[in-house]
Amino acid sequence: MGKVIGIMSLKGGVGKTSLVSSLGTALASFGKDVLLVDANFSAPNLGIHFNLIEPETTLHDVMARDQNISDAIYAVGALDVIPAAIFSNKKLSPLRLKEHIRPLKKKYDFILLDSPPSLEEDGLATLYAADELFFVSTPDHSTLSNTIKSVNRSNERGTVINGIILNKVHDKDFELTLEQIEDTTNVPIMAVIPHDIDVKEAQANFKSFVEHNPKSKGTREVMKLAATLTGEEYKNEPTGFNLIKKFLQIKPKKQEVNREVLYERIFGE
Ligand SMILES: Nc1ncnc2c1ncn2[C@@H]1O[C@H](COP(=O)(O)OP(=O)(O)OP(=O)(O)O)[C@@H](O)[C@H]1O
Ligand SMILES: [Mg+2]
Repeated sequence: MGKVIGIMSLKGGVGKTSLVSSLGTALASFGKDVLLVDANFSAPNLGIHFNLIEPETTLHDVMARDQNISDAIYAVGALDVIPAAIFSNKKLSPLRLKEHIRPLKKKYDFILLDSPPSLEEDGLATLYAADELFFVSTPDHSTLSNTIKSVNRSNERGTVINGIILNKVHDKDFELTLEQIEDTTNVPIMAVIPHDIDVKEAQANFKSFVEHNPKSKGTREVMKLAATLTGEEYKNEPTGFNLIKKFLQIKPKKQEVNREVLYERIFGE
């Protein structure tokens, strides 16, 4: 049975959709069957990331019970995508997402849900449909306060929280540190992705940033996270980097240790 992983944040524009596209691409690069679902019912744009501009069948059509879910699945390179309708007046119940997705768990190893920046019904749909969650956050107070709120809501629901993906990091002193974010949320940080203009360039070219810039720091972090989730090894560090790290006895980064713990939780006995 595959896993449904929700990618959430209550704050808009922090990078949920970009990460669904990149983490999905990374998981597929390890040979996994991956489906990405645009569960941002009111302002969907995951389809646009994959150049699916006016798909004939969308999640809205499926949820309004007009269409079979298999009609809304589009193959894009190595992965499958269910886009949502940008302009739709169809009445639907977002909370029924879980029952629509459930049969697909037999077919896919990973189903990633892109969510809206909301904890109303449309956002709760992802929380209820997901087996596990990642929260996307940026290292500032306003996003952190929203992250705490959604972590609390997920804890009430009892959904497994895998961790936080910290995005758009500038590495500046005024930013919140990883320790501050972990201490206040009680959630481990699983990847740290720099602010990188290439992410926008990738999007303009209808590619995930993992594909567009395979050697960037952000890509390496996403690949390592995907490797943790799949149990595969990711060896693409710059040449000799691991040896130098070992020789200089450089302490592993917080997110590296956290990924080891997550790996143990998933694959350990
Ligand atoms: N690491 C990054 N560096 C620079 N720009 C980024 C990064 N991640 C995302 N972006 C840019 O930030 C903008 C918002 O990203 P995205 O649409 O993925 O956020 P979102 O959380 O899904 O937004 P929404 O809440 O509206 O759905 C996009 O223009 C995207 O290209
Ligand atoms: Mg989005």
